[in-house]
Amino acid sequence: MTLTAQDKNEAGEAQAAGTEGTRLMTITVRVWRQPNAQAEGRMVAYEVPGVSEHMSFLEMMDVLNERLTLEGDDPIAFDHDCREGICGQCGVVIDGVAHGPQQTTTCQLHMRSFADGDTIDVEPWRADAFPVVKDLMVDRGAFDRIIQAGGYISAPTGTAPDAHASPIPKANSDHAFEAAACIGCGACVAACPNGSAMLFTAAKVTHLGLLPQGQPERHSRVLGMVAQHDEEGFGGCTNIGECTAVCPKEIPFETISRLNRDLYGALTHPNS
Ligand code: SF4
Ligand code: FES
Repeated sequence: MTLTAQDKNEAGEAQAAGTEGTRLMTITVRVWRQPNAQAEGRMVAYEVPGVSEHMSFLEMMDVLNERLTLEGDDPIAFDHDCREGICGQCGVVIDGVAHGPQQTTTCQLHMRSFADGDTIDVEPWRADAFPVVKDLMVDRGAFDRIIQAGGYISAPTGTAPDAHASPIPKANSDHAFEAAACIGCGACVAACPNGSAMLFTAAKVTHLGLLPQGQPERHSRVLGMVAQHDEEGFGGCTNIGECTAVCPKEIPFETISRLNRDLYGALTHPNS
């Protein structure tokens, strides 16, 4: 089935139906297309008319994919799930910045951040440890393996204890909560010139290491997770800070210092 230019315009405008006064734009997206992990990739340009400023970036991609499907073309593969900034699945590089021009997840980025006539480059995360699966999808299994190497506690679960049963200093609970906000999106890796996953690893080490339940495995956790980080091929941290600048959950840079302190303690006082 071949769509006319009018069909394409109507498809885009239909997305914005009922939104009087909504700014509609024509956007050109240049998207990384790569049929599979072995194939060579290339940037392919698509014009997308009738883009509402209220659409999320992924909704704009949905409109494009619907058209590609109707035209018999292969739709663009990209990861997504919650579309609420929670699951961490939707990461892509937009105009050279992980998740694009706002410090948020790609699903929470809206087209009002762009202007009519813009050309937007969309690429997958670029890191040796995140191989491309197809188009914009990368394999983030390396993160799962870092978690498996220590990102857990082995305290028996059961009935939830009273909230005040284990007193925790307020500062510790605040920092633990802050670190627990990491959604494992991988933007920190994509932004880091070294391809380091230290901000992610530090967030996981910190959120358990600051709580009483995380103490029994504190040393084995940091040793195991850092060893797995290195084994996966992520680079080392050289204090550049690009990771925290793009992190949609604003995990602070000093979280990496906490990891380094824990690592030093585990190496120098293994029995403490
Ligand atoms: S530290 Fe931030 S950027 Fe890195 S995986 Fe976690 S949420 Fe994503
Ligand atoms: S789709 Fe879940 S965070 Fe974007």
